[in-house]
Amino acid sequence: MPKTVLVTGGAGFIGSHTCVELLRSGHEVVVLDDHSNSSPEALERVAKIAGRPIAAVHTADVRDRRALDEVFTSHPVDAVIHFAAKKAVGESVRIPLTYYDINVGGTTALVAAMHDHGVHRLVFSSSCSIYGNATVVPLTEESPAAPTNPYATTKWTCEQILADQCRHVPGLRVLALRYFNPAGAHPSGLLGEDPSGVPNNIMPFLTQIAVGRREELSVFGDDYPTPDGTGIRDYIHVVDVAEGHVAALDHLDDEPGLQVFNLGTGRGSSVLDLVRTFEEASGQPIPHRIAPRRPGDVAELVADPSKVAAAWGWTARRDLAAMCRDAWHFQQLNPYGYAP
Ligand code: NAD
Ligand code: WQD
Repeated sequence: MPKTVLVTGGAGFIGSHTCVELLRSGHEVVVLDDHSNSSPEALERVAKIAGRPIAAVHTADVRDRRALDEVFTSHPVDAVIHFAAKKAVGESVRIPLTYYDINVGGTTALVAAMHDHGVHRLVFSSSCSIYGNATVVPLTEESPAAPTNPYATTKWTCEQILADQCRHVPGLRVLALRYFNPAGAHPSGLLGEDPSGVPNNIMPFLTQIAVGRREELSVFGDDYPTPDGTGIRDYIHVVDVAEGHVAALDHLDDEPGLQVFNLGTGRGSSVLDLVRTFEEASGQPIPHRIAPRRPGDVAELVADPSKVAAAWGWTARRDLAAMCRDAWHFQQLNPYGYAP
């Protein structure tokens, strides 16, 4: 059934890819984004890829109750996908209050507005970072939460707030999706990851080296207890993540209350695996040298993706080579991202 979906943070990396898949699946899309970490250009490209327009774009802060009231008054919103948040772990250590204000305050403002306007379906962007320094992998949804930085704490706090609100509002249905490491880009080369400044995440760092914007990769540690000593992560193609949200919309009514799902592939890749795969996929050499561990990093984070597979029949379909190929394609076509 086509729905009218409010997508907060819809111009961002995961949000823009999700808007494409929502439009392609016949849903009406309303975006709210303050563009603090995205370009309006991404939304133009979403409509171009999907061949359909976004119904409305509200340029506003998700904490702004008046703006939220206007959105819910102007559109018959059936469900909300809440991406809008700040996501840089290192920055969250430097400015924790800003992270609590935007990530937690944004979520409470949104949920309060949804309640006031009788909207009872929400998909929330959570993160594998809530598992912290995991000792047992793969991680199931029952693995203990142990956030190790303010960013991860904001996501864990939001999950608890949503659980409490579900206890308070029996008709509320919330899916919290804990993404592992989203990477890659749209295969069209029109949408991708466009971080401002020095990338925090490894994939945009690799593409910026390949395109000549950076010289070499520092491999953060080769003395972890992993086969090659470098950190292992569960990279998942951003289009798989986007398709996961379309599937989530179809399953919001399965059960009342808060349900939590990992979105990962179940396959771990080390930093050196990723460098090798990227070199093969792009044909570009990636100069790299071993550097000290990055504070706060963990050895290995890999999802057990079986809960979502059993519940929805959904699994990630694209491999690491596709992530590298698509990320490189976007960077080649957009050497400076969305900047003109
Ligand atoms: P992103 O920064 O590309 O997108 C976030 C979007 O939200 C941006 O368009 C930004 O302008 C907007 N935004 C930020 N603050 C806002 C505010 N106060 N009001 C309105 N809009 C605001 O990030 P992303 O990678 O697309 O991540 C989307 C969500 O997924 C975030 O909640 C993030 O925490 C979560 N997540 C991301 C990853 C990842 O590695 N990318 C992993 C796990 C979870
Ligand atoms: C991946 C691997 C690094 C950069 C982050 C957030 C997490 C989630 C996903 C939001 C690690 C290594 C990296 C570099 C390197 N986001 N690396 N050199 O840290 O796993 O997860 O994004 O929810 O919360 O913490 O991702 O891409 O930064 O690092 O060697 O220049 O690459 O040590 O092993 P991370 P990442």
